[in-house]
Amino acid sequence: MPDHPEKRTVKVCIIGAGPAGLLLARLLEQCGIASVVLERRSREHVEKRVRAGLLEWSTVEAFRAAGVAHRLDRHGMVHDGMELRHDGAAFRLAFSELTGVPMVVYGQQEIVKDLIGARLESQGEIHFGVTDVRICQVGVDGSLVQCTLDGIPVEISCEFLAGCDGHHGVSRAAIPAQRRSSHQWAYPFAWLGVLAKAPPLSPELIYAVTDRGFALQSMRSPDVSRLYLQVPPNEPIHLRSDEEIWHELDLRLTGGTGKLPTGTITERVLVGLRAHVEEHMQYRTLFLLGDAAHIVPPSAAKGLNMAVADARLLAEGLDHWYRSGRRDLLDGYQSHSLRRAWHGQEFSEFMTSLLHVSPGESAAQRRMRRARLDLLRRSSTAATAFAEQYVGLSRP
Ligand code: FAD
Ligand code: PHB
Repeated sequence: MPDHPEKRTVKVCIIGAGPAGLLLARLLEQCGIASVVLERRSREHVEKRVRAGLLEWSTVEAFRAAGVAHRLDRHGMVHDGMELRHDGAAFRLAFSELTGVPMVVYGQQEIVKDLIGARLESQGEIHFGVTDVRICQVGVDGSLVQCTLDGIPVEISCEFLAGCDGHHGVSRAAIPAQRRSSHQWAYPFAWLGVLAKAPPLSPELIYAVTDRGFALQSMRSPDVSRLYLQVPPNEPIHLRSDEEIWHELDLRLTGGTGKLPTGTITERVLVGLRAHVEEHMQYRTLFLLGDAAHIVPPSAAKGLNMAVADARLLAEGLDHWYRSGRRDLLDGYQSHSLRRAWHGQEFSEFMTSLLHVSPGESAAQRRMRRARLDLLRRSSTAATAFAEQYVGLSRP
């Protein structure tokens, strides 16, 4: 950085244009609070990054309140139940009936597109391809960020800094080491995810638990399936041919009947199943949101929903501060979000152990997993408690 970078000031500087950063920017804009969004990737890259797909109803409502749900309301697929398959049997968990709340399937990259479109339309400041983002100072009255925008070194002085830069971002490390404490662990398996030009086997999600490992059938539209296979954690992403993937999916999802519709695989992703919770989500004027603060294994589809909840909470806190000069909501951000994060983590852990075969699993462990699945099928109390967590109702 040269001696005289271009200097700018803004109320809130947001690092990262994922769902957390983009929604926060939008909500702040609605309250008249100016912000700048700094994203290291290109717009094209973030709009094409296929990730989550299952939205809780409260997440849908957050996008509606933010005025960015026109396409979501048109193309989102409302789901009232899902299917659990194990040991040759299948049962439907009617979560809408059990809780009064449905879920919606709508791709994360579509949300990102909608939020970016809205940001650009309202001429809110957002920069893509930003390099060398460095948090130079986090003070009690403001923070300082340096970066390169379109080749020009810039120094941004802000009143608040929102770290929305995901698990591999720079924000978390700006909290001094002696103030940090985190929990992290990894599961001994990964998911091989594919996006395919093929209609889904069923209009509802299917979670299949088999002795060969777990498989999930989801979708992005009536013609596009999203499918996942449990694989060993370090399996090379191209180890299996497309035919082998379809064969294995069919074995796990249909028992090898050949009924799984197949088509062209357009994308593959390998997702290691891991968890991380950062206990300090706030330091002076820096706040961490979404994956920057906590990641969950994707088994229960909670990550995006938790990121959205963080953005709502921080936007509320900042709005309250700028309107009233009172910090109480901002000061409560960390404890509120952490409490939610641990609930999300706990349910993700439960789903992960319910669905997967662990390497070296004993016969007794396998029998207990089956007993847990059986309980969900036979007890409406157990099914309701599960459904409340699945749809996100019981998260505080
Ligand atoms: P991110 O989406 O990771 O966004 C962070 C942004 O910051 C990125 O755009 C990144 O490029 C940018 N960035 C990083 N470093 C810097 C830097 N130094 N400077 C500037 N910008 C930076 N969740 C669900 O709720 N439902 C699901 O169905 C679901 N399925 C999933 C399936 C898969 C295969 C995966 C991988 C995840 C899934 N998740 C799901 C999790 C969900 O995708 C994440 O929790 C969500 O993306 C978190 O949003 P975020 O905004 O916090 O972080
Ligand atoms: C997805 O559609 O990507 C998805 C759905 C449900 C999950 C995880 C991922 O539990």
